[in-house]
Amino acid sequence: MRPVVITPCRSLKGSVRLPGDKSICHRAAMCAALAGGRTRITNFLFCDDCRATLRALGMMGVRIAADPARARVTVEASRPLRAPKKDLYMRESGTSARILMGLLSAQPFPSRLDAAASLLRRPMGRVMDPLRRMGAALEGRRGPAGGEFLPVAIFPSQLKGIAWRQKVASAQVKSAILLAGLTARGATRVTEPVVSRDHTERMLKLFRAKIRREADGVRLEPSRLTSPGDLAVPGDFSSAAFFIVAGLLAPQARVLIRGVNLNPTRIGLLWVLKRMGARIRVFNKRSGFEPVADLEVSSSRLRATVIEPREIATMIDELPILLVAAARAEGRSVIKGVGELRVKETDRIESMQSNLSKLGVRIKVKALMKREDILISGVRAFPGASFRSFGDHRTAMSLFVAGLVAKGASRLDDTACISKSFPRFLSSMNHLVVK
Ligand code: S3P
Repeated sequence: MRPVVITPCRSLKGSVRLPGDKSICHRAAMCAALAGGRTRITNFLFCDDCRATLRALGMMGVRIAADPARARVTVEASRPLRAPKKDLYMRESGTSARILMGLLSAQPFPSRLDAAASLLRRPMGRVMDPLRRMGAALEGRRGPAGGEFLPVAIFPSQLKGIAWRQKVASAQVKSAILLAGLTARGATRVTEPVVSRDHTERMLKLFRAKIRREADGVRLEPSRLTSPGDLAVPGDFSSAAFFIVAGLLAPQARVLIRGVNLNPTRIGLLWVLKRMGARIRVFNKRSGFEPVADLEVSSSRLRATVIEPREIATMIDELPILLVAAARAEGRSVIKGVGELRVKETDRIESMQSNLSKLGVRIKVKALMKREDILISGVRAFPGASFRSFGDHRTAMSLFVAGLVAKGASRLDDTACISKSFPRFLSSMNHLVVK
């Protein structure tokens, strides 16, 4: 659990460089394994989730030379992958489980995915349905109220390309379909109501797959991947989000965040904060297979805003920390179409609502037909409180930030969960704290 007492900071000053983007690390490791040969990945994020992916690939005969001290991993694979001798254990990593399901559906051997309790509760049908349409043979566990869940057994079968229209934009589902499509018969197309994060498309392109963007989606021809040799992962915007909001809310703060991935499908939070009045300077822009820049954040007075459902996919993982920002903005913010938050590591609507209420913040959820909206009114100051993470890394980090910018001391029941995505979060943040 590792509980902590959070002492309010007087200010935040200095610069941080963030570990590699979690979504990109999963994809880099998987594509490297499929490509065969040797791929050296730098600025790799050694967190629990990415380790689950590396471990699963290792069980399929991929040689993984991990160097966490230097944030480097060398993936060496010979094709084809080998049948794992045991279940592939996904820990709590939904991204590993869902994307690997696509990769494994296309292999000539059977496999079985298992996971820790929190992931056993998360829906898998959304990824199994399109894979089955491609011809995949999958057997999941039926939930008591319907739906399919891990463990999932995967049997070899010949896949065919499909045209899949997603109802809810999900990058994990899209990615599973695309990785399955690499060896399917015929082309694979995925269209989405709004574009979800496109890291898989960019990664496949870097590995020379025949993939192209179309009007409302993406099209992939069966392809053999070729490793680019070296690959540097840009800093994770989702991790930057905690430093951005901390920098905006702390008094007289100035925080530099270097080397952040600014993929347009990921940075909805940046646009929303800017329209709330945030002072964030984006500079030193550079482009590779993903766009990267440095950010300078200064203390700001925030105003409430309205966030439309079409914006949600671009900030899905940042909504807990956005709620902290909205809780300190002047006026009432409305965040529309947040239902997906209920099926993350925990129900993030409930976890954030119960914690922010302890700070005197009025936060309501309105259900309309199939949509859920959050209404949240800002307060001038947070008094400090005793927070609960519910075992969820992003809830924990968001509340840590709330505690840092509060007037009084706070307590957070659990920081161990943070290693799911950002093991060095506390030391990186403490490095900026002016006591
Ligand atoms: C991710 C996609 C998102 C996100 C998750 C990472 C990915 O999930 O919430 O943390 O790497 O593809 P959905 O695809 O289910 O929206």
